[in-house]
Amino acid sequence: MPRVNKICCIGAGYVGGPTCAVIALKCPHIRVTIVDLNQARIDAWNSPDFHLPIYEPGLEDVVRKARGRNLFFSSDVDKGIQEADLIFVSVNTPTKKSGVGAGSAADLNYVELATRRIAAIATSSKIVVEKSTVPCRTAESMRIILEANSKPNTRFDILSNPEFLAEGTAIKDLFAPDRVLIGSLQTSEGKEACQALCEVYRNWVPNDKILTVGLWSSELSKLAANAMLAQRISSINALSAICEATGANIDEVAHSIGQDSRIGSKFLRASVGFGGSCFQKDILNLVYLSESLNLKEVAEYWKQVVTMNEYQKRRFSKRVVDTLFNTITGKRIAVLGFAFKADTGDTRESAAITLIRDFQEERALVNIYDPQVEHSQIWSDLSEASPSMPLETIQRQVSICSSALEACRNAEAVVIATEWAEFKTIDWQSVYAGMNKPAFVFDGRLLVNAEELRAIGFKVAVIGRGERL
Ligand code: NAD
Ligand code: UDX
Repeated sequence: MPRVNKICCIGAGYVGGPTCAVIALKCPHIRVTIVDLNQARIDAWNSPDFHLPIYEPGLEDVVRKARGRNLFFSSDVDKGIQEADLIFVSVNTPTKKSGVGAGSAADLNYVELATRRIAAIATSSKIVVEKSTVPCRTAESMRIILEANSKPNTRFDILSNPEFLAEGTAIKDLFAPDRVLIGSLQTSEGKEACQALCEVYRNWVPNDKILTVGLWSSELSKLAANAMLAQRISSINALSAICEATGANIDEVAHSIGQDSRIGSKFLRASVGFGGSCFQKDILNLVYLSESLNLKEVAEYWKQVVTMNEYQKRRFSKRVVDTLFNTITGKRIAVLGFAFKADTGDTRESAAITLIRDFQEERALVNIYDPQVEHSQIWSDLSEASPSMPLETIQRQVSICSSALEACRNAEAVVIATEWAEFKTIDWQSVYAGMNKPAFVFDGRLLVNAEELRAIGFKVAVIGRGERL
């Protein structure tokens, strides 16, 4: 069995960075080099004050312990490839924006470029591991590219090892994963390569949590897991609409159904809509795959999960407008939270972006506060959401504030878009004193104690609750 001494990870993003930093921490005998074409990102990973390019609880500690010991970050992709005996491909696979499959298929350009680079550079045999989330049978395309371009006496074994970490809990998830999934060809070489990667994970993951399966099952399992998780959220959000219309309470409904051990209690939190770089992209990817296989009904079934999510976001912003006497023109709305979930600075597909765009279209004034998201990121997201609006126009309507209290000053309404823990301890008395009256709170994250806020004087609308304001 080949033994892994040197690992290279292509892609120093939200997955490649934390995943391989944890491998380095847990496997001091393995030299891990994480490479990326983006020099600024690499510089941030190497920054002397550990101002890392992504915010993730516990990550800095891991990098502090391993960086310079057996963990290295570099923009020299070729050297990383050349030296390694195992290479993770952890590049981005966004939804295609143009061409065949635009709007649903995965853009595999980055995976292909990384694969071609491996083929061009490698002069010794490598285990190549798909870490990126890819459509079923991508490993086959990688194998064909690698074999067509390989040098004599160089063989490539391809594995699929999808990543299941969630942002905000990445380090916790990586330290104690529910499972590690490794897919390989069921040939003797494929199984040997699979065992070599299993050995790496066995340094800290119990053996019974390391699942080995066929390549295509592994690729499909990743899409399936994300589709089923997102489906749970769309299901609970669909029920939240019924709750609002009937007076039922979504928290009580979620708790009641979650007690059924077949359903389980996790991931049933109604919200303003799921965001993040994965759910929508991976479901659309599954939809495209189903359509390509002529499975129209299957494609439609999964597509509905995304449709319901869009509906949830629209429904929430409409509720804000309806409640504020059918107009928010010229009214100031404080949006608390811009990240797609708490404990991350990531804003990809964040529901806050859609809400703020809707408020802008109604010509409201918007104050934003988020404890982690960079201001430049907020401006870039809002510009992308309203391409016909020049940035100066956006900046006349939108302000970024440095605290929740500041964002709420002189506002008519507060919208909670991200469930940051600090929003639970806001001094609501002071917020109320500084707001125009009647003062509204719209809780899109089931975060506040509505009764306490009502006692202060607020009018409170909570997702999934149809009670009086
Ligand atoms: P990301 O955009 O944060 O990082 C990808 C990095 O790859 C970028 O820094 C980019 O510069 C680099 N890159 C692209 N092509 C390259 C090349 N040819 N050579 C060197 N570097 C290159 O993306 P991410 O969020 O880390 O996601 C990576 C993959 O993991 C995606 O397929 C995604 O679906 C999957 N995934 C993401 C998450 C998540 O929570 N973000 C979780 C599980 C799986
Ligand atoms: C997800 C998967 O959970 C992870 O396994 C996969 O590797 C990547 O995609 P991530 O997108 O980082 O992870 O975060 P997740 O916790 O799944 O949340 C996704 C979105 O759903 C967030 O906007 C979150 O706020 C929302 N959500 C989550 C809900 O609205 N309700 C819930 O009960 C759970």
